[in-house]
Amino acid sequence: MLVLGIESSCDETGVALVESGATGLPRLAAHALHSQIAMHQAYGGVVPELASRDHIRRVLPLTEAVLAQAARGLEAVDVVAYTRGPGLAGALLVGAGVACALAAALGKPVLGVHHLEGHLLSPFLSADPPEFPFVALLVSGGHTQLMRVDGVGRYELLGETIDDAAGEAFDKSAKLMGLPYPGGPWLAKLAEQGDGAAFKLPRPLLHSGNLDFSFAGLKTAVLTQARKLGDQLEARKPDLAASTQAAIVEVLLKKSLMALDQTGLDRLVVAGGVGANRLLREQLDAACARRGVRVHYPELALCTDNGAMIAMAGAMRLQAGIEAASERYAFDVKPRWPLARSGEAGMPAPAA
Ligand code: KG4
Ligand code: ZN
Repeated sequence: MLVLGIESSCDETGVALVESGATGLPRLAAHALHSQIAMHQAYGGVVPELASRDHIRRVLPLTEAVLAQAARGLEAVDVVAYTRGPGLAGALLVGAGVACALAAALGKPVLGVHHLEGHLLSPFLSADPPEFPFVALLVSGGHTQLMRVDGVGRYELLGETIDDAAGEAFDKSAKLMGLPYPGGPWLAKLAEQGDGAAFKLPRPLLHSGNLDFSFAGLKTAVLTQARKLGDQLEARKPDLAASTQAAIVEVLLKKSLMALDQTGLDRLVVAGGVGANRLLREQLDAACARRGVRVHYPELALCTDNGAMIAMAGAMRLQAGIEAASERYAFDVKPRWPLARSGEAGMPAPAA
């Protein structure tokens, strides 16, 4: 079965083809991506209306590109999967609209996919795929969650951020330091030349005893520190960046280890844009190696938003028989959509 996946929830347009059989892991046949980062950079963040308009321009050329890469015709597509939520409403509507129009024209079914499930299952596209069950640390621009994952569609929320996400903490702190959008990778780069112990920044909720996170206070502490530095800020920016990164990484690391202890599982999957952070990877790898825990990451290119993870999540849901694709093309999108609530396994039922 050939699944076409379309991602348009935020500032990347991603399209991919995944091929799946009755058993075995589905396999990536082709993927293509257009990042809008350069377009939004002038505004210091994503402008939703510009994002929607750009998705409209990119999605069909990218679809043609992946079909050409895989040397397949459009008629070979069996199911069209698209990101149904969460994300920007207008941006989601572009992907959903194109997916339903393509599928209706082909007489093929569609499948709306949860964006975070895409991130969560993206390590299955890597050369070293995980096995169930595992603890997942989901760290994207909008979400920070720890989950127990027992299988496709079997997700239990162990803890999440009560305010800003880890990616937001990176981005907002970077913005305060005058770095371009999205700040995470820029801050990480600057931090390479700095000392992570230079400034004592808070580790919010580190000793809360539960698996929840809070990063809003960190951003305020970074702002206070930057003001205190005054004229010296420019010279001390690498140290401030390194100290900010150290604070975020320490909290993510310690809470992930707590989640492993709490569940007794010996496998950790890290997914979402912040999963590309080198310090986070180094520290998780070292701490998990000491405990005999295996850590799995998506390929670096598939950490941030992409179509491959959406096609993959769609293919895995269909293969597991959790959901059937639908020929009801009256799509709706879900800009807010929890993947799992605390103590609850499985995806919430789609709205009727
Ligand atoms: O998963 P993603 O592409 O988008 C969402 O679904 O939100 O994640 C984007 C986030 C941004 O906050 C970005 O700054 C962050 O991931 N990010 C990084 C790095 N690469 C991307 N944060 C820290 N270090 C990085 N190397
Ligand atoms: Zn994402």
